[in-house]
Amino acid sequence: MASVSATPRCDLEKTTSAVLEGQGDVPTAPSVAGRERKWELAYRSDLELTDAEDQRLRTLLVACFYYNPIFWFRRYYLERPAHRWIARNTADEIVGHVAVHDKVVGSSQGDIRIGGLAEVCVTPSHRGLGILKGMLQTVHEWMAARDYPFSMLYGQPHIYTSSGYSAIANDVRASNSPLRWLVPRRGRPMIKALGALPWPKGRIDLRGPTF
Ligand SMILES: CC(C)(COP(=O)(O)OP(=O)(O)OC[C@H]1O[C@@H](n2cnc3c(N)ncnc32)[C@H](O)[C@@H]1OP(=O)(O)O)[C@@H](O)C(=O)NCCC(=O)NCCS
Repeated sequence: MASVSATPRCDLEKTTSAVLEGQGDVPTAPSVAGRERKWELAYRSDLELTDAEDQRLRTLLVACFYYNPIFWFRRYYLERPAHRWIARNTADEIVGHVAVHDKVVGSSQGDIRIGGLAEVCVTPSHRGLGILKGMLQTVHEWMAARDYPFSMLYGQPHIYTSSGYSAIANDVRASNSPLRWLVPRRGRPMIKALGALPWPKGRIDLRGPTF
């Protein structure tokens, strides 16, 4: 399991390299508004999560997505993701999470592999410290190293633009499209290129539900 101490808004390049190399020794915590904070980010295959981890993860998801009761019962919204990144603080509490779906979507230029980010969240007490940006930087490096040409998510531009995401204008088809207007706080489809491949114009078929 890759694991690394990370420090919000500080030396994240060193942090992410350490993750990819499987090293655990990273920078000391920075001062954020006069407070010192430390957190760790670890990769977990969804299949390997224990019941105890499932319960702790769902506690975070319920707190962050309180308007969606599904997380009382399971740790994913519509589709089970293959990969998860889980951030813990020094008290070993789960403070952040990013799920990654490994998907192949249809486009006018043929099939495209994407990492679909979902259930992206940071516990309320740890927000505004750069934990989301730090998690995304690690996840992007991990995906790029595995030849995902794009990361895609549904989110708010003011949260994700600084991490390199742009809203897309494509007609995105999904199996749950007709019901999407019922979803509270649904975001806009956004992508980040992780390599040189240009994002195609035209219709995108997710070949499954949104994430
Ligand atoms: C959205 C969320 C993950 C942000 O986590 P975070 O660790 O506080 O975010 P960061 O500190 O890394 O900030 C990332 C960017 O988002 C912006 N941001 C974060 N919270 C914001 C808020 N409430 N209002 C406006 N901008 C906000 C930051 O300013 C930063 O942008 P910048 O680099 O342009 O300054 C967290 O608030 C959360 O879990 N919310 C509930 C669940 C949710 O909505 N998840 C997103 C689903 S798409």
